Amino acid sequence: MLHDPNRVYVFDTTLRDGEQVPGCQLTTPEKIEIARELEALGVDIIEAGFPVSSPGDFQSVVEISKAVSTPTVCALTRANKGDIDAAIEALKYAKHPRIHTGIGSSDMHIKHKFNSTREEILERAVEAVKYAKRGVEDIEFYAEDAGRADIHYLAKMVEAVIAAGATVVNIPDTNGYCLPDQYGSKIRFLKENVKNIDKAIISVHCHNDLGLATANSIAGLQNGARQVEGTINGIGERAGNTSMEEVVMILKTHQSLGLHTQIKSQKIYEISRLVSTQMRMPVQPNKAIVGGNAFAHSSGIHQDGFLKMRENYEIIRPEDVGFPSATIVLTARSGRHALKFHLERLGFKLEKDELADAYHRFLTLADGKLDISDDDLRGLVVNQEVRG
Ligand code: KIV
Ligand code: ZN
Repeated sequence: MLHDPNRVYVFDTTLRDGEQVPGCQLTTPEKIEIARELEALGVDIIEAGFPVSSPGDFQSVVEISKAVSTPTVCALTRANKGDIDAAIEALKYAKHPRIHTGIGSSDMHIKHKFNSTREEILERAVEAVKYAKRGVEDIEFYAEDAGRADIHYLAKMVEAVIAAGATVVNIPDTNGYCLPDQYGSKIRFLKENVKNIDKAIISVHCHNDLGLATANSIAGLQNGARQVEGTINGIGERAGNTSMEEVVMILKTHQSLGLHTQIKSQKIYEISRLVSTQMRMPVQPNKAIVGGNAFAHSSGIHQDGFLKMRENYEIIRPEDVGFPSATIVLTARSGRHALKFHLERLGFKLEKDELADAYHRFLTLADGKLDISDDDLRGLVVNQEVRG
């Protein structure tokens, strides 16, 4: 089968990087439910956990491996034999197992986390990949803190781990440090200078410390990466990971990028709610794609334009992400057009003068009340009829 060069593989780490967030821990049955929904959503790889970290995490990887059949199930390890042995064991029921092993690649991590040298770390990286390859064919290598690593050393590391058998090379911006053009250039450099790069897929894994995780991931994809790692709702360490739904909808909205995923975008909203509920992590109302206000129009100018033609203010259709529907929120900033829309929805067809009167009463009401209910609207019209 010919490999589609424009296909972007979606690697979901909600159950690993996402679940590391304090207060977001899940039970094994909860993780299985999310994993099944991720499978239905169409993700290519589910990172199910870090088996050596706890017996519970180990068991979750075992059970998720049994529960899903289409996606690859991936287990995280550090670059040591104990971690890798645990991952191989936990993945034994997976139809498509993958080990995600790696080590720090920046001088900061090499010196101050591992108290080591570039040469020693390179050796450990290669050893880890070779060791993992004995148990599982599909090996992803992560060069932790690649965002701050020296590019020539990073290239050397990537070349060495591919030669050792890595099928995917993950270039994480672990600390969310890079600017989009810096991160994109890093990926481009690897693509153009690592001589065996065609034997592996480059993966982007970005954190959101400066609010750039999604922009950086897109820059990476534009420069040759073909796997993107992210989480539902962008949950993850500190300020979070790349929000998977944002990347998917960017690729769908900007067809000129020529890239596509196999995500069934109509299922996005449903899984966003599931993850938010299970993890007890509310979604901020203004969150792109899945926030409660993502399709709510509230100012008069926008409402008027939206009611004339929704595309005036809607670049994504709510139904494309499974969002219930767009809403026209009535506030003191709303115009007559929005009021007319809502009154007609309730069955009131008003003449021009009647609408002007109702609008006047509406403004007085809305100035003192944040939520205008359907009953309030009925009251505006019905009271007038009674008085008249
Ligand atoms: O952010 C990171 O570097 C990671 C790795 C473990 C892949 O999560
Ligand atoms: Zn991470």
